[in-house]
Amino acid sequence: MEAKKQKVMSGIRVTGDLHIGHYWGALKNWLSLQDQYECFFGVMDWHGQTTIYKRASEISALSREMFAEMVAWGVDPKKSTMFIQSKVPEHLELFMIFANLTPLGWLERVPTWKDAEEEAKQSDTHNLGRFAYPVLQAADIAIYQGALVPVGQDQIAHLELTREIIRRFNHLYKAKLPEPRPLLTEVPALPGLDGRKMSKSYGNSILLTEKDEKSLRKKVNMMVTDPQRVRREDPGEPEVCSVYAYHKLYSSADDLDWVVKGCRSAGIGCGDCKGRLAENMEKLCQGPRTIKAQLLSNTDELDKSIEENCERARQIAKKTLETIRYNMKWL
Ligand code: TRP
Ligand code: SF4
Repeated sequence: MEAKKQKVMSGIRVTGDLHIGHYWGALKNWLSLQDQYECFFGVMDWHGQTTIYKRASEISALSREMFAEMVAWGVDPKKSTMFIQSKVPEHLELFMIFANLTPLGWLERVPTWKDAEEEAKQSDTHNLGRFAYPVLQAADIAIYQGALVPVGQDQIAHLELTREIIRRFNHLYKAKLPEPRPLLTEVPALPGLDGRKMSKSYGNSILLTEKDEKSLRKKVNMMVTDPQRVRREDPGEPEVCSVYAYHKLYSSADDLDWVVKGCRSAGIGCGDCKGRLAENMEKLCQGPRTIKAQLLSNTDELDKSIEENCERARQIAKKTLETIRYNMKWL
């Protein structure tokens, strides 16, 4: 008999800001995990609401769009169980069980909370939901009994807290939920157009599927370059240039060579360099953009596929919850 595949769980929170960093940091990895593991990939709308609750009316359209986008980029709803978090209410039941056994001190110590607190106060999101973000994340993972969680270095603290919560749960109720381990993924540093961290609030991001080639080109043309290269005749240094950081992800070895030599000798201009980059980015993005448009042009069919997937997720989540209540002798 084939050995049972380990369970992988991951998700992206819905904020309406799905940019190319999400591809390189999450989606691309998921694709390579789909065959090897039993995968659960979520559209995390409740996590989105912790910061965009005032835009609640947009959430369901954004979630549907994110689902379509995931499929367009190759997440396969036949191989993996995909779901929209709020359509599987079991996440929230488990969240509440976990919330009670999570001391506030554990949450206060989470670095992402400490870093975000000032910003949270200013943006009217210094709220209980956002504070409890890692508890909901623990529930997301445990409800499918996820054993492996692909994350970047920045999420390690959250996952450590997940492990602590699950350990405490197992200890209190003599249960056997797996303590998930991180599948540490290399997240390449992708600067935003202005060189700062890519974020919608800075207005410096490139969307996962820009609406057309023209808007992609426009964005690439806005990118900051080596500041030493002021005039066309000035030689530049690719290693300090964001455009080159992108080339490393999107371009062939020949193109990289062309950039390095051309930049250092002032043989090419930044315009040429950006033009080539935009071309290579467009090659990768074209297919998914078309599929996404097709999926969104027939929302009835898309919604049906979402419903089916969420139902599949729900069956599994329900079973876990039954076991959990049994462990708690809360029947
Ligand atoms: N925190 C993740 C993000 O920022 C989303 C997320 C929610 C998640 N629950 C999760 C990731 C569980 C992995 C496992 O996109
Ligand atoms: Fe950057 Fe390319 Fe211009 Fe060199 S030629 S500074 S790598 S954009």
